[in-house]
Amino acid sequence: MATLDVDRALARWMPRLVAVWRRHRRLPEGPPTLVGRELKEVGQGIRTLSAGLTRDRALVGGRYLDDAKLLGAYLLFYWPVSYAQARAVLGELPRRPRSVLDLGSGPGPVAFAALDAGASEVTAADRSTPALTLARALAAEAEEPLATRAWTGGGALPEGQHDVITLGHVLNELGRGTAAISERAALLERAAAQVRPGGSVVVLEPALRDTSRELLQVRDLMVQRGFAVRAPCLWRGACPALVKPSDWCHAERSWSPPPLLDALAREAGLHKEALKMSYLVLAPRGEAWVDPPAGRLFRIVSEPLEFEAPGPMAPGENYLPFATPDECVDAVARLFADRDLRSRMMARNREYYLEHGSPDAIVARVLHAALAPGRF
Ligand SMILES: C[S@@+](CC[C@H](N)C(=O)[O-])C[C@H]1O[C@@H](n2cnc3c(N)ncnc32)[C@H](O)[C@@H]1O
Repeated sequence: MATLDVDRALARWMPRLVAVWRRHRRLPEGPPTLVGRELKEVGQGIRTLSAGLTRDRALVGGRYLDDAKLLGAYLLFYWPVSYAQARAVLGELPRRPRSVLDLGSGPGPVAFAALDAGASEVTAADRSTPALTLARALAAEAEEPLATRAWTGGGALPEGQHDVITLGHVLNELGRGTAAISERAALLERAAAQVRPGGSVVVLEPALRDTSRELLQVRDLMVQRGFAVRAPCLWRGACPALVKPSDWCHAERSWSPPPLLDALAREAGLHKEALKMSYLVLAPRGEAWVDPPAGRLFRIVSEPLEFEAPGPMAPGENYLPFATPDECVDAVARLFADRDLRSRMMARNREYYLEHGSPDAIVARVLHAALAPGRF
């Protein structure tokens, strides 16, 4: 889906979110943005949510959305982010879903994204009554047909078959420790059993290292149990990103955050630039993997690194240059095959590190630049 569509859709949603937020906080009607004290209250809530969900993770597993101020902060700051993420991922599905069940919906960003992406029967399910009340208030404000259901993660799923079942930023909140991975996989299996043929289970998760790695572990279990992955990656083996504990994998989409989001991010002292998330789209049991296109396939794992090296580097001595994926693969094959070349490059790069890249070399260079004659 084009970025513009999301930006336009969010421009329509933001005044609705603010109107519902004012009613939720029992404030008089006001402008479609926040002023003075309102910004401060929401900014404080965002700081608490950000620390508790992404840093110390103390809120995870708790009923933080039952707190009126935190729910208000979630609505105005995290709702638009989840909405935009969900629109991006729903746009990748092989077919447009008609009926969608959104588990762990909170105030419904993923559910409304599904409605805006063309679904006509959407149910938002969560254990937080206040969050579901806000989802219904938003549905009334937007004149959208949203159903809501009480659901607790451990309990049975609301009955019925759906084209898509979504779980937005909830899987990582279910269970703790190693048992959590198989419990989460079991939940996804139950969800997949309630998805119609050709449909999907869609999981969105934060782009943090630990939550992303846990999602990859769940993904590996689901693949072992015979489920096909539709997105983001068609690799059929165990995920190689789990080999090194410091690695993980997340997606990034460009977007233009609504101005209120920028203002709230500033108020809370956070940066919200690119739209980052981890996600997984699974097919129901028994459906085949999509065959990748013929020919060699490459996955882009990083943007070009644009920086200036502090000292001279020579091609063939410090690095092997490449301009295309094929040249990169050839360069790696050369390194594997030519032990002398490898040793020579390692020795040259150690010299380079000692001269230009080691901490004392960096500090010396900074002092040199700072104390250069004529600088003060
Ligand atoms: C971070 S919010 C995500 C809300 C929304 N899906 C989104 O993507 O922005 C996590 C949601 O999961 C719900 N949740 C957490 N644990 C749950 C459980 N055991 N049963 C049902 N819902 C749960 C919370 O109430 C909350 O609404």
